[in-house]
Amino acid sequence: MKHILITLSILLTLQAAKAGEGMWLPLFLKSLNEAEMQELGMKITAEDIYSVNKGSLKDAIVHFGGFCTSELISGSGLLLTNHHCGYGQIQSHSSLDNNYLKNGFWAQSKADELMNPGLTATMINEIVDVTAQALEGVTDKMGVEEREATIKLNIESIRNSLVVASHQAIEVRPFFNGNQYFAFLTTTYRDVRLVGAPPESIGKFGADTDNWVWPRHTGDFSLFRIYAGPDNLPADPSEENIPYEPKHFLPISTDGVAEGDFTLVFGFPGRTQQYLPAVAVEEIIEVSDPNKIAIREKALNIIDKYMRSDEETRIKYASKFASVANYWKKWIGETTGLKKTGAISKKQKFEKEFVSMQTKDNPARNILGEFDALYAQRAPYAYVRDYYGEITGGRIVELMRVVGLAQRMTELYETRGAEAFDNFKGRVMGFLEGFYKNYDPAIDQEVFAALSEMYARNVEAKYTPEMIQDLSPAAEKNYGIIAMKLYSETAFVDKDKVFEMLEGDAEEVVARLQADPAYAFGAEWKNTYDTKVLEPYDNYNFKIDSLQRIYMNALMTTFPEKRFYPDANSTMRVTYGQVKSYNPSDAVTYSPVTYLDGVMEKYKPGDYEFDVDEKLLELYDNKDYGNYADRENGKMPVCFIGTNHTTGGNSGSPAIDAHGNLIGLNFDRAWEGTMSDLNYDASICRNIMVDARYILFVIDKYAGAGHLIEEMRLVRPKLEYTRNPKDEIKIQRRKRKANR
Ligand code: ARG
Ligand code: ASP
Repeated sequence: MKHILITLSILLTLQAAKAGEGMWLPLFLKSLNEAEMQELGMKITAEDIYSVNKGSLKDAIVHFGGFCTSELISGSGLLLTNHHCGYGQIQSHSSLDNNYLKNGFWAQSKADELMNPGLTATMINEIVDVTAQALEGVTDKMGVEEREATIKLNIESIRNSLVVASHQAIEVRPFFNGNQYFAFLTTTYRDVRLVGAPPESIGKFGADTDNWVWPRHTGDFSLFRIYAGPDNLPADPSEENIPYEPKHFLPISTDGVAEGDFTLVFGFPGRTQQYLPAVAVEEIIEVSDPNKIAIREKALNIIDKYMRSDEETRIKYASKFASVANYWKKWIGETTGLKKTGAISKKQKFEKEFVSMQTKDNPARNILGEFDALYAQRAPYAYVRDYYGEITGGRIVELMRVVGLAQRMTELYETRGAEAFDNFKGRVMGFLEGFYKNYDPAIDQEVFAALSEMYARNVEAKYTPEMIQDLSPAAEKNYGIIAMKLYSETAFVDKDKVFEMLEGDAEEVVARLQADPAYAFGAEWKNTYDTKVLEPYDNYNFKIDSLQRIYMNALMTTFPEKRFYPDANSTMRVTYGQVKSYNPSDAVTYSPVTYLDGVMEKYKPGDYEFDVDEKLLELYDNKDYGNYADRENGKMPVCFIGTNHTTGGNSGSPAIDAHGNLIGLNFDRAWEGTMSDLNYDASICRNIMVDARYILFVIDKYAGAGHLIEEMRLVRPKLEYTRNPKDEIKIQRRKRKANR
């Protein structure tokens, strides 16, 4: 009896699929989600969201550059995404004289739209469940290597068996840690032009201080346009191309949102790990996150000092600073949230119950013990891996980025010969052009000094290159001097010298690269790391991955009634929930909508994060909001939050209403809930969206780009919908329910 009760209680906690949790595959919405979505207020069907046979919402959802989401909002390929997603492009067209970051950019006609070679826009044509073919011939008795090899061959034959047009590509990806496989047929457009961007004082209002924060007041959007060849198919960037005509684009609702409204977010979430065992989450909270936070904090303090003292440096480093600061802050929120909601003890409790539900002879009983052992064995290597990865990965010590490229060039020459080398060299030179435009060796040298010292102090000497080893507390090294010496001797910090080095045939170039002192230093560091850390790390990690697959499978068989959703893996997903307030701490409630009044409350004249420009002040003073103000209170809405389960990569995803119209643009999450990547908790996990009405207001009233509004389709679904009194009663009932 007791056993049954326990079982029931877990089932209940698992079943109470707290509205919001889950990143669902669009092709299973009908069977898994449609009923719940409609219960939450959705008026359309699963088929309207994802269909292979007719135009559906999915045809308007575009993977932007492979790292963000965007959506089509006009019949002429107009694409909406975040300001921070288009940031690199906006920055690359900017200079001190033509500072689009600072002043914004609005193409007055299509001829003024700016090309971005290399930027892509990918659409999903079809998703196919290929689990059976991918796992054909795979047995439980197989060793991991044999299993991988079999699957690899199977995937090859899946690729060959699917019929695709010449402009399409196929990607086959594992789900549920390799328990299922899906193929994605995609079409990628290569001519994507910048159409419009608000100034940073709107698009990045609040900058890093407000990043990951609710209440938020950022107009984080920018506009691009997809161009196609005369056949509407992908073509290389060219003046000849014409605006792409989509199968579907999203109408935009100007009715706004209210607490309890249904919201759907459709996009390409990058990576989550919802099914990790407690021991793994504990390592993240206690070791990994704190170390990475400390490393980034050190670098950020140095870069910030330089950025604040010089405007040109600020432009150069703005994008890099933002990207380093982004996860620094996210990890702080993540550990805080995980601790606050008792994520580890919840997982431990669940694991105990999971084990108790397995029959005596079921090997699944041992999985959690095996995890404990493997994570303990991996721990010392994981620790160094975080240090090495953060410091030398190219974001912190930038010199190591160039060293890394030089190492890859030599490696290529040695393994694949001169031709492969020359090809890669061409690409490297292209990259370096941009790299040195935004590089300041003085800043990098100071970061290097601080971080190499940190490495030496915190990582055991046997994993540390000799040059920076902290030999003994008595014989402390002066890292400033080490850095000065290295940075004055290496050619890699100077664009002209590097390009000179790269001249000539492969053999000469490689010899020159290898003779550089930074190369030698980096090679020693990498070599020590690769052999003494990475090898054992990979070895344990491989076992952990394979155990995670077995665990995932056991979870699914132990709880057959539960709806499982696969972890994010940069593939197309749907998440849905409601507009909802939350309590960040005792006695504090955050309401779900912010207004332009809040921008003015935060306004700090002259401050680079919280300045507001003249034009916006004037519109605010005159309450000149056009048709975009809230119809009930007359105020200008800016952002709102919901319970949608999102992650990195979901930036730029559309927030869609019950009828399939765009109501907002996803760009962030509330800080307390960034733990949603590891353990979604409906009480504090909220995604942050810009209100569509603010976007329209900025384009129309602020920028005077009414010609862009004319391309769009503005709709008023609530107006039409509430004409029916029966529906009105339903809405009210739903709202009361949501508020309970
Ligand atoms: N936190 C958001 C995301 O993870 C926005 C990041 C860009 N903004 C910034 N201030 N760094 O991408
Ligand atoms: N800001 C993130 C992005 O760029 C979204 C998130 O992590 O919530 O994708």
